[in-house]
Amino acid sequence: MEQYCPPAHVLIFPFPAQGHVNSMLKLAELLGLAGIHITFLNTDFIHERLVRYTDIETRFSCYPGFQFKTISDGLSADHPRSLIKFIEVYDSLNSKTKLLLREMLASNQLIGSNTRPCLTCIIVDGLIGGFTSDIANEFRIPIIYFRTISACCFWAYFSVPKIIEAGEIPVTGNEDMDCLITTVPSMESFLRYRDLPSFCQANDLNHCNLHVFVTETQQSPQAHALILNTFEDLEGPILSHIRTHCSKVYTIGPLHTHLKFRLEAKTSSSQSQSSNNLFEVDKSCMTWLDAQPLKSVIYVSFGSITTITKDEHMEFWFGLVNSKQRFLWVIRSDLVVGEHNEVPEELMKGTKERGYIVSWTPQEEVLAHHAIGGFLTHSGWNSTLESIVAGVPMICWPFIGDQQLNSRFVSEVWKLGLDMKGVCDRFIVEKMVNYLMGERREEFMKSTNLMARLARKSVSEGGSSYYSLDCLVKDIKLMSMEAD
Ligand code: UDX
Repeated sequence: MEQYCPPAHVLIFPFPAQGHVNSMLKLAELLGLAGIHITFLNTDFIHERLVRYTDIETRFSCYPGFQFKTISDGLSADHPRSLIKFIEVYDSLNSKTKLLLREMLASNQLIGSNTRPCLTCIIVDGLIGGFTSDIANEFRIPIIYFRTISACCFWAYFSVPKIIEAGEIPVTGNEDMDCLITTVPSMESFLRYRDLPSFCQANDLNHCNLHVFVTETQQSPQAHALILNTFEDLEGPILSHIRTHCSKVYTIGPLHTHLKFRLEAKTSSSQSQSSNNLFEVDKSCMTWLDAQPLKSVIYVSFGSITTITKDEHMEFWFGLVNSKQRFLWVIRSDLVVGEHNEVPEELMKGTKERGYIVSWTPQEEVLAHHAIGGFLTHSGWNSTLESIVAGVPMICWPFIGDQQLNSRFVSEVWKLGLDMKGVCDRFIVEKMVNYLMGERREEFMKSTNLMARLARKSVSEGGSSYYSLDCLVKDIKLMSMEAD
């Protein structure tokens, strides 16, 4: 008689922030489509917002064996959980949430019902991999890291000890921000000091943010495997370096297109949208876009955590209006820090004529809209991948962390747009917008079209990300059989 083998059951645990939760939910959906049972663990704060702004509970109820569980992030209800408080969030997860997670595993709370199989493995956001690994090891559960950043940024963080050893950071005094950093393999010829992840640009190398990012990244080789939201044609040379340290690296991105592709193959519907927003979406911008000419609009969004000063706000606004191009701009309620300036009449007039401002868009749909011709972005990794797939050239204005590096790759390596890092000046904004939408458009369209094709090919049957996801699923199912 054939032996019954229970289905694999994976615990997925993201870092509690938009870009992280978004991509890990997409991974969860992909694994759910492959018949794997999932327990998705959100902090209470994140889960409450997801339930308020999306249909996740109905959407995921279609997957047999899928359940959401929540855990406290240990912070008070009125804590802002913002980027400047990153270390408070991280420390609280590392202390309070860690104890709760341990308790949940010890008392089988994550299993949920008698019919649900034991945990086969944990897929954790590599940013909180350290404490989760401690617990996983204690309970002898294999652990896989998922990083939401680009491979190039992962590799830069991984190389930080070498950069320090070579004396290339910290840069003290008034050294040139354009000086080359030569100790990151594969980036010797173009990586400047200003392109390093922002935490590396501090004078104090003991700064807690840098310490967290480097330590967590350095632990990755100890995990059973590493999952990255990227594809081989985009970051192949960097991935080869990572593979000399991490033996199993699954590259399954761009996740949003990969999921769309697999959903369409399964349901034969072309309407597969998976929104994982922590903000209320304003769909009116789609009607506005419908009325704009082909590729005439520059989309402006700085993601979910960037903040700008009121002066920067004005520089961008003047630059956009003075460019005379049409623009769609996401201004989150917490984007601009400080009191708002009175808005000059000419800005109101120019915006009324050619602009549209919203607090949150359905971004994937926006980028795919025929009226969009360019993207002024903060170079968050999800936004970068979404722009690549849509074939939309970018102007990069990176704010923090991985974004500095992503923007260098966009402009210098992949030739998908312009890098505006470090400057925020209305004349430069105007000039760059006009370059991207006009004078230099042809130059960028060649490479954006090619990369968009390669991205889509990678998630199609026979493509590298498609194959890599199948291998990941096999790996998980094999673990489950071995544990049985
Ligand atoms: C940051 C990092 O920069 C990123 O690289 C890391 O992986 C996570 O943390 P964030 O500022 O959230 O991320 O940017 P990004 O990674 O680009 O993610 C933003 C997400 O919000 C994108 O998926 C985008 O489609 C979505 N979004 C943004 C909307 O749906 N509507 C909007 O109006 C703006």
